Amino acid sequence: MIPIGEVKDTSLDLTDATGLGPLKATTVKTAPIEGQKPGTSGLRKKTKVFMAKDYLNNFVQSALDAVKASGTNVAEGSLVVGGDGRYFNDEAIQTIIQMGIANGVTRFWVGKDGLLSTPGVSAVIRERGPVWQKAFGAFILTASHNPGGPEEDFGIKYNCENGGPAPDKLTEAMYANTTTIKEYKICEGFPTIDISTVGSTTVKSADGSTEVTVEVIDTTEASVKLLKTIFDFDAIKALLDRDDFSMVYDSMHGVNGPYAKAVFVDELGQDESVCVNAIPKDDFGGGHADPNLTYAKELVATMGLDKKGNKIDVGDAKIPTFGAAADGDGDRNMILGTQFFVTPSDSLAIIAAYADVIPFFKAQGGLKGVARSMPTSGAVDLVAKDLNFDLFETPTGWKYFGNLMDSKALYGGKDYTPFICGEESFGTGSNHVREKDGIWAVLAWLSILASENSDASKPLVTVEDIVTKHWAKYGRNYYCRWDFEGVDKAPATAMMDKMRADTTANTGKVVGKYTIATADDFTYVDPVDGSIAKKQGIRFLMSDGSRIIFRLSGTAGSGATVRMYIEQYEPSNISMVVSDALKDLITVALELCDIKTFCGTETPTVIT
Ligand code: G6P
Ligand code: ZN
Repeated sequence: MIPIGEVKDTSLDLTDATGLGPLKATTVKTAPIEGQKPGTSGLRKKTKVFMAKDYLNNFVQSALDAVKASGTNVAEGSLVVGGDGRYFNDEAIQTIIQMGIANGVTRFWVGKDGLLSTPGVSAVIRERGPVWQKAFGAFILTASHNPGGPEEDFGIKYNCENGGPAPDKLTEAMYANTTTIKEYKICEGFPTIDISTVGSTTVKSADGSTEVTVEVIDTTEASVKLLKTIFDFDAIKALLDRDDFSMVYDSMHGVNGPYAKAVFVDELGQDESVCVNAIPKDDFGGGHADPNLTYAKELVATMGLDKKGNKIDVGDAKIPTFGAAADGDGDRNMILGTQFFVTPSDSLAIIAAYADVIPFFKAQGGLKGVARSMPTSGAVDLVAKDLNFDLFETPTGWKYFGNLMDSKALYGGKDYTPFICGEESFGTGSNHVREKDGIWAVLAWLSILASENSDASKPLVTVEDIVTKHWAKYGRNYYCRWDFEGVDKAPATAMMDKMRADTTANTGKVVGKYTIATADDFTYVDPVDGSIAKKQGIRFLMSDGSRIIFRLSGTAGSGATVRMYIEQYEPSNISMVVSDALKDLITVALELCDIKTFCGTETPTVIT
């Protein structure tokens, strides 16, 4: 290992006829490995699968070949490498550096301790300079919210020059390469880089003809700098400093911890106790770093709720005013008030409705566009209609938002920015980066709370007050998602195929008290480049506006996960218990899919 800041000894290796020394690439024979198709968000598999011979190497080579074939000159600019700190993170980083060099990359930016959140990478790609060093892309090592550790999951995804996830065209090319790969290139003689200290290491070839620089960068710097330009930190600080306000932010031992500390402790002067589970661990402390009512158990209990979102008796314990959680790679968020859960769909709608309290939007003349994934509730649609925003309904997956945000800059089309988008899967963000951004959502909510509480002499307006006021104005989209995790893939696929085959027959059918106005399989035509995404989810759109949707998850590590999404709109009846409001629709949904027959269960593993 060479310490940062030192230049490796470049004395000529006489046995090396190439004269390249530590930069000499070796070509290693390999053969295709099955199942390297990236899903909704990169390639995810068991860690052991990734650690098996050639698995990571095959994918990295295939990815780099696809990136180069797409026209990117990897010798110019920087390649960002970092991850959420899960097991195998650091080893994978060294392999990517060695393979990157062998494939022509000359400059790397690696997160300190190997840590960079997904939105953090997006910020680094977009914001970090100077121009001649600007990043052309990034490898992010994460399986997001999936558990980590030697027995759990690992993952890798590639992000492009705009800071967003590789589009389908590129991931398809990567996958195609994995099916024909015969060899990969690697600089085995390149020294292991010490990634625990910020600084630059330049390694020259033995003959001095070429050099490579690996810069270990501060994990949070680019993100914090960017967030400070978006939000009014003074206003947020005034809220946090109120005696009647308290908050807790659970990073679930993922990569978000350093970001939470940098923002809330270093910038906003709060006590360290605000940031819980803020030390990244390679197995996320044995937990499931997914911010929802089921998996963020500790926070949910602290906020006085059970996993169904019902209030629990906490005795004399003081419940914080505001609670939030992040997932393993820091792009998801969950927002809670005192004994109150905000659904991600409502959160998106409310942030959009309050966009003007965030300087980033106000300064650009106000929000112009909003988007949600198809299964996300239509709560934001009502805000868009009211406030006259362009509204888009996209397939599940953040990458679909990228084109809309870049429509002017990259495609010479209409400018939909500034733009807010979100998904029911606890993702919210804007065009400040090209990923969903957990800490951004938390700061957006704190901005809303700060705006409603600018008069410190008045009683605190709570999260629940804000949400209830929103429902009173727009009506309430009762919503839930049932997940059936770990079911067998073949019957789950057969179930989807059957519903797909029956769409015409089901249209017009009366089921319980509902009439199916449309049954279809969602197809998205990108309004910017015309690309088409088919088979994005079976929809049953009822004549009263209620919806039932089925999808197979694109992020399940093994087996299959069936997702069932249920939504019912009530214009004025806003105080029902969610499970009561949705009971009839759920019964109909279970009948329509017949999951009991196909998958042998109708009991969900998670309800969100
Ligand atoms: C990741 C993606 C999201 C997506 C989510 C759920 O977090 O970044 O865009 O909504 O996975 O995907 P899934 O296919 O598992 O429902
Ligand atoms: Zn994530």
